Amino acid sequence: MTDILLDTLPSPATPLIPVTAADLDAWRSDQSATWQSWLNAADFQAKPGQFCLLPGTAGQLEAVVVGVDPSDVPWQLAALPQTLPSGAYCLDSDWDQTHREAAALGWALGAYQFTRYKTEVTVPPSTQLFIGDDADITAVRALAAATLLTRNLINTPAQDLLPEQLAEITRTLAIRHGATFKQWEGDALLQHNYPLIHAVGRASASPPRLLELLWGEADAPQVTLVGKGVCFDSGGLDLKPASGMRLMKKDMGGAAQALGLAQWMMSSQLPVRLRVLIPAVENAVAGNAFRPGDVLRSRQGLTVEIDNTDAEGRLILADALTDAVEHQPDLLLNFATLTGAARVAVGTEIAACFSHDDALAAGLVQAAQQVNDPIWRLPLHAPYRDLLDSKVADIANASSGGYAGAITAALFLQAFVPRHIAWAHFDMMGWNVRARPGRPEGGEAMGLRAVAAYLQQRFC
Ligand code: BES
Ligand code: MN
Ligand code: ZN
Repeated sequence: MTDILLDTLPSPATPLIPVTAADLDAWRSDQSATWQSWLNAADFQAKPGQFCLLPGTAGQLEAVVVGVDPSDVPWQLAALPQTLPSGAYCLDSDWDQTHREAAALGWALGAYQFTRYKTEVTVPPSTQLFIGDDADITAVRALAAATLLTRNLINTPAQDLLPEQLAEITRTLAIRHGATFKQWEGDALLQHNYPLIHAVGRASASPPRLLELLWGEADAPQVTLVGKGVCFDSGGLDLKPASGMRLMKKDMGGAAQALGLAQWMMSSQLPVRLRVLIPAVENAVAGNAFRPGDVLRSRQGLTVEIDNTDAEGRLILADALTDAVEHQPDLLLNFATLTGAARVAVGTEIAACFSHDDALAAGLVQAAQQVNDPIWRLPLHAPYRDLLDSKVADIANASSGGYAGAITAALFLQAFVPRHIAWAHFDMMGWNVRARPGRPEGGEAMGLRAVAAYLQQRFC
């Protein structure tokens, strides 16, 4: 990963020339007669992602021209690192620094492959990119590494990523950055009053936990990230059908994204006090599993009737959010693969975002637009809170009707976050169901770059 982006101009380096379809004719007419006829022979139209290797007089590779859609930030060059011939390339464009750094990020993400379980790996070409002396490659690397950490965690099957391993990974991340790590495991969750985390996770062979990572100056603004860490979601006793269960190793995608962001914040030395809370569980089936109809008292005191054990994410998040709120953070963000309904609302490639703080929501949406990392705000429509009414408890964990599932889930979380806390909740897919340049099918950070941009603008 480190040498995919180069700090200094390599020698030799092949110029990589991005050209838009609109600029193609003008650009081509400036080239040699040989290149012009070569480009014509290759039918080069500068379609986004289309590239053409350009020969020197001795038949050597002299340059590469690539079609780009310059608005497709940061993915303009993302298809190239695994398709160009091995070698070092230097970006030859008039793009400004921000644009070049974004393209370098796309390049780094485009080089990603998840090969942990492949015995035979087809080695992709080894390509490197240099984008200019003025670029902040360290910052690009940090953002790429955050996304890759998130992807790797999501792609790792539950067999190798149960609460136990998620805890070890969080501990390792903390140690590497001089952060402190704490965890409450198994019965300790009951002793320290995290009853919902315990109830959801107690049926697993890998005991439930709450993980905490703390980093930064104590007097800096406190940013708390909470991530849903359901290492596998079978649905519990209200078991999911096979098709719905198939991808549920990704149900710790929120935790993966919180850890990715945490790594980015720590390696970027963001001047904040960072607190990460990850309720880590497996929603499993066993004789001691929690049941539909059970009534649980949350850490905050609200009693919750279990309508469906498959609405487990909001339960573990409720106790984690309550803990977060006890420390009065200046900013509280949670990430979760919380509902299938959010996918129905905004599809798989947009993170749904909820907030009772208009300024925060606007800031997040604006940052998302700036870095082209789509998020969409959905309403915390208060009248729908009735859909979670329970006949026997203060609130139910799911509504019986099939409507507004993402909103009712968000309203459930909101019941644990007082209005004065600047809070936003991201309901994300965490998974690319189709491959696009730089975004292979599989685990994916969604909204990570948007949040990073927001944090940087707000705190730096
Ligand atoms: N982890 C799932 C949500 C999910 C499913 C996210 C598919 C992304 C893709 C969550 O725990 C869940 O099962 N939610 C239920 C809630 C329902 C029982 C109220 C859902 O969305 O169907
Ligand atoms: Mn579920
Ligand atoms: Zn789940």
